[in-house]
Amino acid sequence: MKVLVIGGAGREHALCRSLSLDPAVTALHCAPGNAGIADIARTHPVDTSDGAAVAALAAEIGADLVVVGPEAPLVAGVADVVRAAGFPVFGPSKDAARLEGSKAFAKDVMAAAGVPTARSYVCTTSGEVDAALGAFGAPYVVKDDGLAAGKGVVVTSDLEAARAHAAGCLAGSGEGTARGGVVVEEYLDGPEVSLFAVTDGVTVVPLQPAQDFKRALDGGEGPNTGGMGAYSPLPWADPKLVDEVVESVLQPTVDELRRRGTPFSGLLYAGLAITSRGVRVIEFNARFGDPETQVVLARLLTPSAALLMAAATGTLADLEPLRWSDEAAVTVIVAARGYPGAPRTGDVVGGLDAVAESDAPHAYVLHSGTRREGDAVVSAGGRVLSVTAVGRDLAEARERAYRAVGRVDLAGARHRTDIAAEAAAEAR
Ligand code: AMP
Ligand code: GLY
Repeated sequence: MKVLVIGGAGREHALCRSLSLDPAVTALHCAPGNAGIADIARTHPVDTSDGAAVAALAAEIGADLVVVGPEAPLVAGVADVVRAAGFPVFGPSKDAARLEGSKAFAKDVMAAAGVPTARSYVCTTSGEVDAALGAFGAPYVVKDDGLAAGKGVVVTSDLEAARAHAAGCLAGSGEGTARGGVVVEEYLDGPEVSLFAVTDGVTVVPLQPAQDFKRALDGGEGPNTGGMGAYSPLPWADPKLVDEVVESVLQPTVDELRRRGTPFSGLLYAGLAITSRGVRVIEFNARFGDPETQVVLARLLTPSAALLMAAATGTLADLEPLRWSDEAAVTVIVAARGYPGAPRTGDVVGGLDAVAESDAPHAYVLHSGTRREGDAVVSAGGRVLSVTAVGRDLAEARERAYRAVGRVDLAGARHRTDIAAEAAAEAR
């Protein structure tokens, strides 16, 4: 099977790694890829938001399957164009990807499907914002309606900060823009879980749950980011959690989108809060999470190409149950100075050979934002590396991941030191 992966972050490096380990994959291509992906796949400098260019590349390489990683091309309709050109695509249509592209649309689908989520108001004026903030009280949750790479959400007890974020979102929304306004919602407490499901629009196949660390700094301080680290499994979670979420969240959402004539195929990501009143959806994404994919795929024993192909071709009901490793996995993001604000790029990334020599195969580096400059690997994004490790338990996986992080040499880089710390301590 010849596979083309679209994207160039840690998630796509994890996908490419998993596909490269699958004996059914005879050729692996990625556009645009990054310096790490280039070691295991042939990379192509293609504009991934240009569906015609992606379809042309798929034709050139004779792709049997195209896997679209990031949300931006999905929301832009790249999967539709490539599918229309005759290629099986893993990734939802533009219409189905609105589940991620518009928080207001996601709320509407959840209401129709009876899926538990935070109560919310979609506001288009500052007067509506003030009324909604007043109705819910602190802590305030204010969300930009459109795509914002995990950074469009402000959770704060400071009323003025909440109002200011809402005003900024409103300024960029309205007629003629992609955004429908600002969502103000009830605060959900309790631990967060990321649960992914592979679906073909009818059948839902859940993956193992993971936890992401969204805030920039240790202890959950600092601004929201795309994610600073992740681990799986969740030793503290109810063993029935996955079944319960399939039944109350994932299957009803897939059924509702099919009922609307816009079936969702690809990866449905439920961001959940486990509150004292039960599970609530915080958000949906229309693609694999980053960096949760790094830990989830590290534990998947079933070869991934057949799984993604079954979703793309509507044959998931025939797939054997997935097999999972008993090992635990931890990913620690190494971010550039300035992330998530204005990250500095172009710095040389050192120590990668040392990790490969000393820590493989239990720990390895997946590149999140890098490119090659001559012989050097240099930083090219806010999140630069996803250092991933597996172990008998979370404590061992953590130790291995942090040992490898210690060998990385990147000027001004920073990482959280508490990824999976609490869960590892509890589990031991
Ligand atoms: P989102 O982009 O909707 O996933 O939001 C990013 C992050 O903001 C989430 O992972 C949560 O940590 C936090 N967040 C979002 N919505 C809520 C909420 N209603 N209550 C508490 N925290 C939230
Ligand atoms: N790690 C959160 C996300 O992928 O949206």
